[in-house]
Amino acid sequence: MSNNTLTITDNRTGKQYELPIENETIKALDLRQIKVSNDDFGLMTYDPAFMNTASCKSRITFIDGDKGILEYRGFPIDQLAEKSSYLEVSYLLLHGELPTESQLKDWTWNITHHTFINESIKQVMDGFHYNAHPMGMFISMLGALSTFYPDAKDIFNEEARWKQIYRLIAKAPTIAAFAYRHRIGMQYAYPDNDLSYEGNFLNMMFKTTELKYKPDPVIERALNVLFILHADHEQNCGTNAMRSIASAQTDPFSSMAGAAAALYGPLHGGANEMVLRMLSEIGSVNKVPDYIKRVKAGEFRLMGFGHRVYKNYDPRARIIKQVADEVFEVTGKDPMLDVALELERIALEDEYFVKRKLYPNVDFYSGIIYKALCFPVDMFPVLFAIPRTAGWLAQWAEMLGDADQKIARPRQVYLGQRTREYVPMAERNGKTEGAIA
Ligand code: CMC
Repeated sequence: MSNNTLTITDNRTGKQYELPIENETIKALDLRQIKVSNDDFGLMTYDPAFMNTASCKSRITFIDGDKGILEYRGFPIDQLAEKSSYLEVSYLLLHGELPTESQLKDWTWNITHHTFINESIKQVMDGFHYNAHPMGMFISMLGALSTFYPDAKDIFNEEARWKQIYRLIAKAPTIAAFAYRHRIGMQYAYPDNDLSYEGNFLNMMFKTTELKYKPDPVIERALNVLFILHADHEQNCGTNAMRSIASAQTDPFSSMAGAAAALYGPLHGGANEMVLRMLSEIGSVNKVPDYIKRVKAGEFRLMGFGHRVYKNYDPRARIIKQVADEVFEVTGKDPMLDVALELERIALEDEYFVKRKLYPNVDFYSGIIYKALCFPVDMFPVLFAIPRTAGWLAQWAEMLGDADQKIARPRQVYLGQRTREYVPMAERNGKTEGAIA
């Protein structure tokens, strides 16, 4: 008998079962054989929020949450942040290896030559109210783009798949910047393909009357590092949404709209926006202790703190803190930084946070940098979504090639009523039981 098995005794029947263990997991379907009687459905696992369920095998991103390790395709995040570029990292995520010089040149050419969007998209954008949230516009534009590229439905055609990958990575900054320009009532600035990926994004955001926009190299580099840090993060809420939607063979534009919608939430990529709002609300260093007291009393959460996987300092937050210093040398220090540093200092010493292993996450410092770079607060989730495009697409492509995957369809534990007689209107008593829990 192999040792790599799990023996389970069902105390209801006294029967024993031996389940294989592979990659430190058992297959949930192997539990189905555990039955009380022949017509019994069989045992399932109950795991709301996937706290302990692996939904896929992946070779893209590795996280050790206890040790605070993050690697893309085996390369530590700090090395990539220091030495690489976002476009190189997106190649790495999608191809599995770092590109040679000529491969990177081709990749960059392909991305750069898909940055423009169809002129009709501008009319869709113009339909939004003047104060529409840019993340809402970004999500809608992704869905709208799917209608412009019917070939995106051809997901089992490798050439068509790569085309959508180029398009999505290239156009994400364009629709993001156009959403911002619409929001502030300025004419759209078209892509400038002479510039880097990040430089062009800054151009589309901030170009005014100058004939040629010249990005500040320190700011361009800072954005590049931020994009690298946000490029992928294995099976988080947004990526799980991407895989789940795409498992129905939905095109990648529509799937990514769903992934971006998940990212929008304040517990996920929307947290960077909430951090800035929180820091503004606190206002000054001397108000921090009182704020922490209210967090501990359960009034609200400390935004930018805690993580489902990291039970240690988020390695991305550590790198972002260093980038902040470089940015502030150009832009001048933001007083919010002192409030953030004090929040972090107190929280890291406080028993409430220590006991629960709550450390700053990627969103804690990113917002302060974005603010220093003159991005409005409601653009922050969009700034998370742009670089996550590469990760979402890498996970999508991996899923399509995985023979184990099928349409995502969880089970449920049904606790509601069973087969009842329809009640005529005159006999109903109007009492509802748990209509909306
Ligand atoms: N402030 C105060 N208490 C917290 C916080 C927080 N930010 N996060 C978790 N806790 C407490 C929580 O109340 C619970 O306490 P208790 O055991 O007494 O009930 C305990 O810590 C465990 O929390 P949980 O909700 O079970 O943990 P989770 O893994 O489900 O949630 C999280 C992870 C990120 C949603 C959560 O930590 C949170 O809400 N953080 C604030 C939002 C945030 O910064 N999100 C960005 C995440 S990083 C970017 C990304 O990848 O999306």
